[in-house]
Parts: sequence; C-alpha cells; structure tokens
Amino acid sequence: MPRIAVALLIQAVAVVVLAGLVYLASFWIAPPYNDLLLVGSLSFLTVFLSALLGMASWWLWIQFVFPWSLYLLLLSPLSPWWGLVIALLIVLLFKNAFKEQVPLYLTNAKTRQALAMIGRQNHSRCFIDLGCGFGENVRFMTTVESVVRSVGVETSPLVFWIAKWRSRSYPVEIHPDDLWQVNLAEYDLVYAFLSPKPMATLWLKVQEEMPENGWFVSNSFHVPDVEPDDIWVLNDRRQTHLYLYKIGGKD
Ligand SMILES: C[S@@+](CC[C@H](N)C(=O)[O-])C[C@H]1O[C@@H](n2cnc3c(N)ncnc32)[C@H](O)[C@@H]1O
Repeated sequence: MPRIAVALLIQAVAVVVLAGLVYLASFWIAPPYNDLLLVGSLSFLTVFLSALLGMASWWLWIQFVFPWSLYLLLLSPLSPWWGLVIALLIVLLFKNAFKEQVPLYLTNAKTRQALAMIGRQNHSRCFIDLGCGFGENVRFMTTVESVVRSVGVETSPLVFWIAKWRSRSYPVEIHPDDLWQVNLAEYDLVYAFLSPKPMATLWLKVQEEMPENGWFVSNSFHVPDVEPDDIWVLNDRRQTHLYLYKIGGKD
C-alpha cells in the first residue's frame, strides 16, 4: 500500500480512537472539551501510530502537522478552494514522495563542489542527475571543463518546470522523464539523491546500462550489500556521505 494511503488511514484510525476516548471521558468530565486539547491529542495519536508502524521521520512531521493544518484552515476565513489549491500545489511539488517514496530535498553547495571534483578527477564527459529537483546540480556541472553534456530528468511537474525555467540560459538539458525510462548508456557520471527504497533496483539498471569505468554517485543512500569503491564524508552540517561506485562493465 502506498505510504500516503497508510498515512491517511492512520489519520482516520486516530479520529476513531479519539472519538472513543472522548466518549469514555464524557462519563467523568462533561463535554465540550477544549479544541486545542482535542487537536493536540489527535496529532499525538497519529504520530504515535505512525511511529509504531515504522514510518520514516519526515512522515511523522507530516502526520503531526496535518490535524493542525486542517483545524487552522477550518478556523480561517479563507475560502475552502484555497485548501484545494494548496493540496494541488503539494501534489505537483511532491508527487514522487507519494509515488516513489522519494521526497524533494536538495543537494547542498558543499556536496555539489564534491560532485564537481569527482567529475574533474575522472574527466567525466556526460553527467546526469536522476531526479534533478530544481536543476542546480545540472547547471553547476557545466563548470567542470571535461563535461560536454549535463542532463537532468524530473517527473514532479512543478519541480520540472521550475528547473526548466531556471536553466533556460544554461547549456543543459532538463527533461520531464522518468528516471527508470532513461537509457544511461552514454553517461559516465550518474548522480542520484533519492531514498533507500529504489537503490537495489537502481543499481541493477546502472550496472546494466552505464559504460565501463563510469561512476555512479549516490548521495546519502548506499546500495544494499554492495561495497562502494569509495565513500566521501563531507565536512558539512549533515556530514553528507557520497557513495561512489565504479562501473566494471558487463561480464
Ligand atoms: C531528493 S530530491 C533530489 C533533487 C536533486 N537531485 C538534488 O540533489 O538537489 C529527489 C528528486 O527526484 C525526483 N524523482 C523521484 N522519482 C523520480 C523518477 N522516477 N523520475 C524522475 N524524477 C524522480 C523527485 O521528484 C525529487 O525532485
């Protein structure tokens, strides 16, 4: 079941549990109860249930904020259409968080410098960022002298259009393509900053398609059960780990 469905189900279960608790409480303390107490309890319950089901920490934040956002929206004089607009914007920005379990978070400047260094050291010619976000890495890699082609693919619609617009005056390519449909045969430097979920499958694709002696670099998420050829630990706030895999070519 997609994570978004689990999250919504938990919200629904929490409402039922809270209704039961309110019913029980009414035997001792006469209602009505304070709104903030009720919303706070709902928030607490959803986070508790989500943690119990092993949801990632960023989901816990979403679960926490969700009841409060609904409550504030109900209180506000805004038209309910705004709720729809906000929901639509969230889907357009974070589509892949729901579909692929890959949320949108961005590579920092220090990591980009390191990526460029990897490109320079290996005289990389064709670079691709799989799920390029707003395209910052794709643009930055044009500063690496050996790179003749710098490409990004991105399937979240709004994110793609922002990347495309911001890259309009750079010699780069931004495509609205699914990373699983891209043939990696010509890319000798492939970068991904995704999540633990797709890494095993992505590794199969990378091995199958990338040219011999190319480099696959994954930010923060290693390929399970595969020893990287190198690990760069960066001196940034989050101690970013870059996992470097040299492609050995097909047998
Ligand atoms: C963690 S962000 C990284 C963004 C950018 N690469 C960076 O490092 O700054 C992952 C991006 O991958 C995109 N993404 C996830 N699955 C994808 C897919 N199957 N095809 C294309 N893009 C995808 C998401 O929309 C998101 O923008």
